[in-house]
Amino acid sequence: MESVLNYIEANKDRFLEELKEYLRIPSISNNPENRQDMLRCAHYLINQLKRIGMQQTQLFPTPGHPIVYGEWLGAPGQPTVLFYGHYDVQPVDPLELWVSPPFEPTIRNGELYARGAVDDKGQVQMNLKGVEAHLKATGSLPVNVKFLIEGEEEVGSGNLDSFIAAHPELLKADVVLISDSPMFDRGVPSICYGLRGLVYMQIDLKGTESDLHSGSFGGAVINPNFALAQIITQLKDGTGRVQIPGFYDDVLPLSDEEKEELGRLPFDETKYREDLGAPALFGEEGYGVLERLWVRPTLEVNGICGGFIGEGAKTVIPAKSMAKISMRLAPNQDPDKIAQLFEDYVKKIAPPSVELTITRMHGGKPWVAPIHHPAIQAAARALEKGFWKRPVYVREGGSIPVVATFQELLGLPSVLMGIGLPDENSHAPNERLDLFNFHQGIISSAWFFHEMKK
Ligand code: BES
Ligand code: MN
Ligand code: MN
Repeated sequence: MESVLNYIEANKDRFLEELKEYLRIPSISNNPENRQDMLRCAHYLINQLKRIGMQQTQLFPTPGHPIVYGEWLGAPGQPTVLFYGHYDVQPVDPLELWVSPPFEPTIRNGELYARGAVDDKGQVQMNLKGVEAHLKATGSLPVNVKFLIEGEEEVGSGNLDSFIAAHPELLKADVVLISDSPMFDRGVPSICYGLRGLVYMQIDLKGTESDLHSGSFGGAVINPNFALAQIITQLKDGTGRVQIPGFYDDVLPLSDEEKEELGRLPFDETKYREDLGAPALFGEEGYGVLERLWVRPTLEVNGICGGFIGEGAKTVIPAKSMAKISMRLAPNQDPDKIAQLFEDYVKKIAPPSVELTITRMHGGKPWVAPIHHPAIQAAARALEKGFWKRPVYVREGGSIPVVATFQELLGLPSVLMGIGLPDENSHAPNERLDLFNFHQGIISSAWFFHEMKK
């Protein structure tokens, strides 16, 4: 490993410059205007994969954005690590809140600011460079490596499951490695062994054909905004408990062992609240904050719109109203089943005086894994080498839908070695990546491949 580590040290500045190049490509997957940029980003990765020494690379078109693949299989008899990541990023709005432009990577106080810096380009780059260090410094890798980098994670990975189902041989491996999650805190290397699932729904209400004068018609017809508010308030009660019948049926209780582990994590509730700028925390009664985030499902209203929101006053009854509602699912809950329960319930509680349309958007299954798996232990040793500290075991409230797919379709366990920080603003303005973590993340990645060798 000495030559590998020396290589990483010697090429530190170039690695950063290359990350900046990667971050300059505005690969926003949900915006049709960025379609060419998405393609450009995919080609950029193909070139990267070639340059770091992959024996084969391939760009797979999909009905959406292309999937990038690369492999190095020069270690016969050794395990194969399938690395998964995504090159797409979230939209940048509200743009005016960015201190420096989102696609002009800028360093301030040891952090690199750019959209995608932590989610997920920076973390993908750590692993590309961890592999490069082995191949360039020693001409070889301790294990076989495959890269699968998609461009639709932020929009629900709609074309990935069918790709995986169609390419079981290509993706044959022993374990999946993912770096797309935060550490528990700065200086606390972490391995994530659980993710929540997701169901995303849109509710549209229509009252009348057209907007109406609220004097001429107010009192004769329903106001869809009001009907929407009534529906929303019946989704969750004042104690944070979701009211959809059957919603909690499949949620598993936390084992005593896990509860104990959770209690040992260095979590400071007051600091957490203050960092968020919240007057008080809120969540389901009877559960601690970490339990609410990682082990319990939730329901959120992502956005509401309808009627007049301009300046001044306008007397009007809107014709339509809309809400986007998502539910984070705990392990063992099934997205299809929850979507159905939601639909049945909303249909039941919606006033008959509005026309209701429910649309199901993307989603994904939850996941939880045993932490005693040898690959997870290899990651633990790698993180300890990279950060001089034993990692903690955490779950996360976010979702990476493909993790359950790898398990179900290919029987593959996943190791989530995330090197982000919880306050690095993923999905928000001023997304950033800690440059110390970037460097140590590359070192940890290099150690992981070393530790995976039989
Ligand atoms: N990297 C995140 C997933 C994540 C977030 C893992 C926080 C652990 C903690 C990923 O890019 C993401 O944003 N996923 C979406 C999935 C959705 C679009 C299906 C999410 O969680 O909202
Ligand atoms: Mn991500
Ligand atoms: Mn994301």
